[in-house]
Amino acid sequence: MTTDFAALRRRFPVLERKTYLNSGSYCALADTVREAFSAYLDERLAVGANWEVWVAKNQAVRALLARVLGVTPGEIAITTSASAGINALASACDFSGPRNKVLVSDLEFPTSAQIWHAQERRGAQVVHVPCAADGGIPLEHFERLIDERTQLVALTHLCYRNGMRPDIPGIVRLAHARGARVMLDSYQAIGALRVDARELDVDFVVGGMLKYLLGTAGIGFLYVRKDCIADLVPTHSGWFAQQDIAAMDITANRPASSARRFEAGTPPVVNCYAAEAGLKIILEAGLEQIEARVRDVTARCLQRLAEIGWPAVTPLEDARRGPMVAVPSRDAAGLFAQLMEQDIVTSFRDGNIRATCHFYNTDEDIDRFVGALAGHRARFAPAR
Ligand SMILES: Cc1ncc(COP(=O)(O)O)c(C=O)c1O
Repeated sequence: MTTDFAALRRRFPVLERKTYLNSGSYCALADTVREAFSAYLDERLAVGANWEVWVAKNQAVRALLARVLGVTPGEIAITTSASAGINALASACDFSGPRNKVLVSDLEFPTSAQIWHAQERRGAQVVHVPCAADGGIPLEHFERLIDERTQLVALTHLCYRNGMRPDIPGIVRLAHARGARVMLDSYQAIGALRVDARELDVDFVVGGMLKYLLGTAGIGFLYVRKDCIADLVPTHSGWFAQQDIAAMDITANRPASSARRFEAGTPPVVNCYAAEAGLKIILEAGLEQIEARVRDVTARCLQRLAEIGWPAVTPLEDARRGPMVAVPSRDAAGLFAQLMEQDIVTSFRDGNIRATCHFYNTDEDIDRFVGALAGHRARFAPAR
């Protein structure tokens, strides 16, 4: 399958006005996603409450996401954020026995560390896996810490600060060999990289729809591998987590037999409209094609940065990076503001400007970004 990326790019009007390198914060808005929001509002005016359609939308998102992850819809919980998914999972973990250790990589987005630390009151022992000098985490650091007391490894797919991708297959192999499960936080990767949960062999995947999946804020997901569902009963629950939502039974908690048991209350209806439209674009473009495109665009960015003598902190090797190129600066906030004035939209974290690329970015976007950096070198390049 060949993908017409130029035609797809035309469906994102903001790209006519901005050099948009900020999909790792929030994607560009597509025509059909905007129309999906309008369709919801039109229905509210015409019909009022349209529950049958809304439930179907929720199911459509579940089914499309299952296709993206290469799993079954019964293994997907649709949540209101990535944090809600992690919380539901954490609430189902039992820390009362000897296997009470949770390893948290130092590449994690804060929420994925904070929620596990919140479990310390319930008996969890949270241990951090430290970074090496280059900002990544070598496999040996995990090897040293994963042991027979480890219940879970919380692992980011791609670090939100520096764009580093850990050795996921290696870490999963180590964890499983020692009886631990792995929760992959794929928020900074899914939609820009192919994320096949079975191939990766991870037990859980969390993420959301506002970045590379092209949807909106206020909707996330948790994938739970089928054979893990039955023994995990969340105490973070609600009526939409029940086996029979319509039962309205107040005498007991009867969790769904599927991953829906990790949901809680009324689904984020309007967000489902947007998420459905975004997921359809991703599947239409093709995940392999998107990954190859993102790889080319980020490789060009790294090469151009090397040419102007302002190297990124993100690794050059394809397997160690994803859609983000993180560029150090002596004043990242100041540089971000300068770039904004030039209609170049980026973001900054931890002293780095983050250029986060999607399939709709072009070589010209990259050249504009790096050209602008070259102009700002004297004031903003890192001190040597
Ligand atoms: C890697 C990663 N994980 C988790 C989150 C938090 O997601 P949420 O706000 O949906 O809980 C983010 C948000 O940017 C993220 O980048």
